[in-house]
Amino acid sequence: MTYPLPHGLPGLFIALEGGDGAGKSTQASLLCRALEEDGRTVVRTREPGGTPIGEKLRALVLEHGHGDIDARTEALLFAASRAAHVHQVIVPALTRGDVVVCDRYIDSSVAYQGAGRNLGAQAVLDVNRWATDGLRPDLTVLLDVDPAEGRSRRSGRLAEDRLEAEPDAFHTSIRSAFLDLARQDPARYLVLSAAGSPDAIHEAILEQLPRIPA
Ligand code: TYD
Repeated sequence: MTYPLPHGLPGLFIALEGGDGAGKSTQASLLCRALEEDGRTVVRTREPGGTPIGEKLRALVLEHGHGDIDARTEALLFAASRAAHVHQVIVPALTRGDVVVCDRYIDSSVAYQGAGRNLGAQAVLDVNRWATDGLRPDLTVLLDVDPAEGRSRRSGRLAEDRLEAEPDAFHTSIRSAFLDLARQDPARYLVLSAAGSPDAIHEAILEQLPRIPA
């Protein structure tokens, strides 16, 4: 497979987005394995986190027990984690020509903080474009999950984090925000129902890779 170069760097940047319980981690694993079998060097990473400072910010913003965190503080913590991640991990990897597979990126902030916390999509986008120096994924795979289904898929896991624990109405507004982002820029998005089988979703993602626009 050959891949074009939309951001001017030789690597390929793929973000996986979707509500909690959408199956992003499973798809990230399958995708990374397929890319490695195709001979690519792959950097698998996630947000919030991905760097030592990002992991500390992740703990601050996701764990219960830090008292109330107001919406702007929450948005800035995610953006700070993302800034470190872009500058320390993602851009160096893309510069080397690697494929970066990132579990969540700016769209998560637009959905969770912009819509879920009512900060507004544009304000959150502006802060994050600044934090990342405008770096955008070549392809965003949106796994669209029904909030009730996402919650039941998560029920076997560890305790819910601060965001997961929000009520279904919060997760419904997030779902709409993700879908709005995809509608605004269809060439850069692949929207798949999370209700499909993991193998079928994986095949659909692989089919899309050579079609990523330049
Ligand atoms: P994630 O790591 O995907 O959850 P999990 O630990 O279950 O794999 O994401 C953690 C939570 O953080 C998730 O509920 C979404 C939320 N989040 C935001 O609210 N804004 C953001 O910008 C990001 C990256 C995540």
